[in-house]
Amino acid sequence: MKRQIINVSTATRKMDIFQIKTDMIAIGVFEGSINSSAVLKQLDEKLGGAVKKVYKFEDFKGKALSSVLLYGNEKIKANKVLLVGLGDKKKFKIDVLRRASGLACKRAVADKCKNVSLALVGDVKDIDLVEAGIAMGEGAYFGAYKYDEFVSESSRPRRLDVWVVDNVQNRLTKLSKGLKIGSVIGDAQCISRTLSNRPGNVMYPGALVSEARKLAAKTVGLTCKVFDEKQLKQKKMGGILAVGCGSARPPRMIVIKYSPRNAKAVKASPVALVGKAITFDSGGISIKPSAGMDCMKFDMTGGASVLAAMAAIARLKLPIEVYGIVCAAENMLSSNSWRPGDIVTTYSGKTVEVLNTDAEGRMVLGDGIHYAKTLKCKTVIDICTLTGACFIALGHYNAGLMGNDEKLISQLKEASEKSGEPLWHLPCGEEYAEEMKSKIADLQNIGPDRWGGACRAAAFIGEFAKGTSWAHLDIAPMMEPGGTLKKITGPGSIGFGVRIFTRYIMGLCGRK
Ligand code: BES
Ligand code: ZN
Ligand code: ZN
Repeated sequence: MKRQIINVSTATRKMDIFQIKTDMIAIGVFEGSINSSAVLKQLDEKLGGAVKKVYKFEDFKGKALSSVLLYGNEKIKANKVLLVGLGDKKKFKIDVLRRASGLACKRAVADKCKNVSLALVGDVKDIDLVEAGIAMGEGAYFGAYKYDEFVSESSRPRRLDVWVVDNVQNRLTKLSKGLKIGSVIGDAQCISRTLSNRPGNVMYPGALVSEARKLAAKTVGLTCKVFDEKQLKQKKMGGILAVGCGSARPPRMIVIKYSPRNAKAVKASPVALVGKAITFDSGGISIKPSAGMDCMKFDMTGGASVLAAMAAIARLKLPIEVYGIVCAAENMLSSNSWRPGDIVTTYSGKTVEVLNTDAEGRMVLGDGIHYAKTLKCKTVIDICTLTGACFIALGHYNAGLMGNDEKLISQLKEASEKSGEPLWHLPCGEEYAEEMKSKIADLQNIGPDRWGGACRAAAFIGEFAKGTSWAHLDIAPMMEPGGTLKKITGPGSIGFGVRIFTRYIMGLCGRK
């Protein structure tokens, strides 16, 4: 029996921070301001010198992502007060707020709070409050999320109310506008996380189809079409069929279309988001080592993030037509599996010599991207946990960004900066594509040696995207939280890409 994952809801409340009745109030504190901030002085007085003591014993100095918990008393209405570090004020970026709000909500869930109040006190005159609201909303959902569907003994509340508190109306109006947007995006990111977190025995291509259909049915503006293995064969989608044929659970291509309500508002040709959804990647006949293989249940994160981003785009009613194409397959070993040496004819007609069945993502994406072209999408963005090489290159802090169009790259960089999901631009030019040519077919699915694996994989995919403005997000580095992200959210998938995609489409329509 799957249990309900925590249900977060957000709202703004016009209140004095000392008057709000709440299980926990989180107060952002800049480094060094513990002595100078008027609010902290007031708090210190009410708590009988507790704030000064924290400072004196050097338990907390306001460093970013640090925090200290104090207990309330009869002079304030909050049961607990969490001081959350915002770091050096001169280095402040909106993302600091997103993380601080994540950290606070993670702590609130751990402490079994039913509600948590977030207070952006002090000097906020330089801060864009709509952006701050977006970030706090996104951060709240991100931090509160905990994947515990299959934990039987879990007594914590299934609901968390997050309140953004301020006592000045015009500030609250802006925060509220942002909070609504951020909550839609944050909620969608949790959808991606849950789909990816479900293990391979529960989440296989057919199960993903059911989820996609459910999501489309309950979201105004979305429609869902699915190609089963018969239709994939009819269409000669050889890439996705090859990858999926070793599994008893056959592959599916899911096509979600978002049509804006007001057709007149449509501004450009449709954008396609194409996601890799390998529900489990064993490596196939080129089997992976057992250590860490379990994490390959997350190899569907790209596809899950596409589905979730489609939900966010629709809920925000953005005036642009978007297709979400999800290539779902399970890469397994059996007597039906594809094998090294095979030559596969893909949907585009290009032939691929298979040299390693663990390089499967590029095979399914080639078909997905070619399908996007048949839908007349001029802009195509793919997203995938594609290469260990990208992880090795970038570590825990950036996903790789490649593509064939400078303008699209810079639009995605901007969306990435706004959303706090970092991307690093890497090359994938002709020289890499050259290395992916086969002597006995048009392409081969791995390069001649181990160098530049992320760039070569991107270049391979780029061959299928020719004639479009194309970008590629290799999110293998961001499959699970690493480094500082561990402080602000629980383990498992982080649904990377949902925020970037939504911000990118918002940007195309001139929204925030
Ligand atoms: N899904 C993996 C890539 C991956 C590895 C994602 C680690 C996240 C963490 C992908 O299908 C794969 O196995 N790629 C191979 C390609 C190689 C055979 C050219 C890899 O990266 O080793
Ligand atoms: Zn693989
Ligand atoms: Zn894979």
